Amino acid sequence: MPIPTLTVVDHPLVQHKLTLLRKKDTPTGRFREVMRELSTLMAYELTRDLPLESFSVETPMARFDAPILSGKKLCIVSIMRAGQGILDGFITLLPSARVGHVGLYREQETLTPVEYYFKVPEDIEERLVLLIDPMLATGRSAVAAVHRLKEAGAASIKLAVLVAAPEGLRTFHDSHPDVPVYAAAVDERLDEQGYILPGLGDAGDRLYGTR
Ligand code: URA
Repeated sequence: MPIPTLTVVDHPLVQHKLTLLRKKDTPTGRFREVMRELSTLMAYELTRDLPLESFSVETPMARFDAPILSGKKLCIVSIMRAGQGILDGFITLLPSARVGHVGLYREQETLTPVEYYFKVPEDIEERLVLLIDPMLATGRSAVAAVHRLKEAGAASIKLAVLVAAPEGLRTFHDSHPDVPVYAAAVDERLDEQGYILPGLGDAGDRLYGTR
């Protein structure tokens, strides 16, 4: 069954850059650079429906009513550690946004997310939260992060990932049908270790050159 809250960003630049990330011989420095570029394009799509209001501006030639952003202020929340790889691209486009962090790791045996850090702005309930993580695999980390954000008062959340697995999308939608998901690609499936196939490998390891 299709996921009604899913938007796949199938822009040619997004698809091209994602292919560069998938290539196993893309070196760490280039991987970081491309991930940053790709995340700027994702941020552009996530903010496509931000409301505008009219603002009277005086140009060197005339005064007129020009559009400016209105509505909720933004907060970007990164799911560490791989979320850090796409944070800069979002900040480039949204330099005034607040930034929050959720630290989660996957328990090796069960793949259950374990929280080790949580810090978001105090006024999170007044902000549109853009939750970011390059990979939506089992979906459990994103589900847990959204639970914590809602507990902290967040009322308006969008999730941005680069690669999603169908299993993760279903799990996430079952838990949080109110949260729209944006992905650059939906891949085939998960393997037995919870990695996305074909995917791009371990995004954190490829970003930081660890193993
Ligand atoms: N996390 C990753 O970094 N890669 C995967 O394929 C799955 C989870």
